[in-house]
Amino acid sequence: MTVRKAEPYRIKMVEPIRMISREERVAALKAAGYNPFALKSEDVYIDLLTDSGTGAMSDRQWSAMMMGDEAYAGSRSFYKVKDAVKDIFDYNYCLPTHQGRGAEQVLFPHLIKRKGQYVLGNMHFDTTMAWIELNGAVPVNLVIDEAFDTQTEHPFKGNFDLALLESFIAEKGAENIAFIIVTVTCNSAGGQPISMENIRGVKRIADQYGIKINFDSARFAENAYFIKKREPGYADKSIKEIVREMYAMGDFLTMSAKKDAIVNMGGLIAIKDDAELFAAASASCVPMEGFVTYGGLSGRDMEALAVGLQEGLDVDYLESRIGQVEYLGEELRKRGIPIQWPVGGHAVFVDAGKMLPHIPAEQFPAQALCNELYIEAGVRPVEVGSLLLGRDPVTGEQRKAGVEFMRLAIPRRVYTDRHMDVVVDALANIMKRREQIKGLKFTYEPKVLRHFLCRLAPVED
Ligand code: F0G
Repeated sequence: MTVRKAEPYRIKMVEPIRMISREERVAALKAAGYNPFALKSEDVYIDLLTDSGTGAMSDRQWSAMMMGDEAYAGSRSFYKVKDAVKDIFDYNYCLPTHQGRGAEQVLFPHLIKRKGQYVLGNMHFDTTMAWIELNGAVPVNLVIDEAFDTQTEHPFKGNFDLALLESFIAEKGAENIAFIIVTVTCNSAGGQPISMENIRGVKRIADQYGIKINFDSARFAENAYFIKKREPGYADKSIKEIVREMYAMGDFLTMSAKKDAIVNMGGLIAIKDDAELFAAASASCVPMEGFVTYGGLSGRDMEALAVGLQEGLDVDYLESRIGQVEYLGEELRKRGIPIQWPVGGHAVFVDAGKMLPHIPAEQFPAQALCNELYIEAGVRPVEVGSLLLGRDPVTGEQRKAGVEFMRLAIPRRVYTDRHMDVVVDALANIMKRREQIKGLKFTYEPKVLRHFLCRLAPVED
């Protein structure tokens, strides 16, 4: 019998959590306007809203923080981040930012030359899409069709449809494409990875038309781990070697360091060798995020980041991390709960449209399921479906998501498999009475990014 592996760490510090009673959960959710974003985290037992900034830092990160150099200019801590970026990605220039969207805010205006240009991606994240649109450009998603079919087996559902990428550029003209964004892993499709072969294809097309490539790098190490596990020829390569090979094909990166770099706050811009672009981005960074050697971060934040970037590459850690997400996915599948398959890197995505076919998209089945899971076991997931997508800005019509997803995002190094069992039991119970779950309607609908602040109520029949 092979001896199974356990987490490659011991737990040195704990934060007590508690489950409030069912009556209290019902009341808390009602007071929150049936929107889990409005719940107090103290009223949540297992918080799977996001894997962003919610990870547990290591003893090495905490002790490095004591060495933080809080100088406004030229901080020693900044140079540790710069060295880590050079070592891992082999990019020469770097600017810290307060988080991922800060990086997008600073860099994108220098990449978008004219209004109406297109920014092509496998699938843009919401804030990325927002910064593209705020700069007058049009975001386009060109992910393969398999990404929207939760039941089809495909090892790299984050891949670009290369034929579509090429025909789109040929039709619109290369001068109308601002740049390409490769999102690793592809969050919105279920934390799905993109293969090295597919990145190579993107690079070939980009070179042919003289278009630059940005990596949206929040989960760069998890993507490299999937390449190692699933792509022929990579089993014996280290995670760092794979990351280097990926990033050799890009020109710059924006990163939310709150995911794979395992810090509670932080982001990055890095540029391979374009000194002019770096100078332009530096000039924007100062008024937007802060001076170029801190960009919204304190010295101690940068220390934690420099260590976290390297720790995130540890293959034993990644095996245990992705293994936990797989464990949750497999246990849910055994109970007949429809999920995006195979599971991705940071979360299990439940196909709520399939689970609750009696609730139409405009009554937000995935949001209804999120609420039911909170009531059942104090677990807080997040909706990634039609509620998040919102209305067409021109016609005002509700847009329909490709899949109505409920995302169970797993913070890094925080919960044990026993916590995952709670989620499994709760969803198995809900499965048995799913016909009774009701859809939702707005009582307050903000115009922009409505899912964060809207209020809802159950539709009565
Ligand atoms: N890009 C991707 C792929 C992301 O997943 C996120 C954040 C960002 C950019 C923006 O980074 O939050 O640091 O400003 N994703 C979080 C999530 C919020 O829950 O998936 P940020």
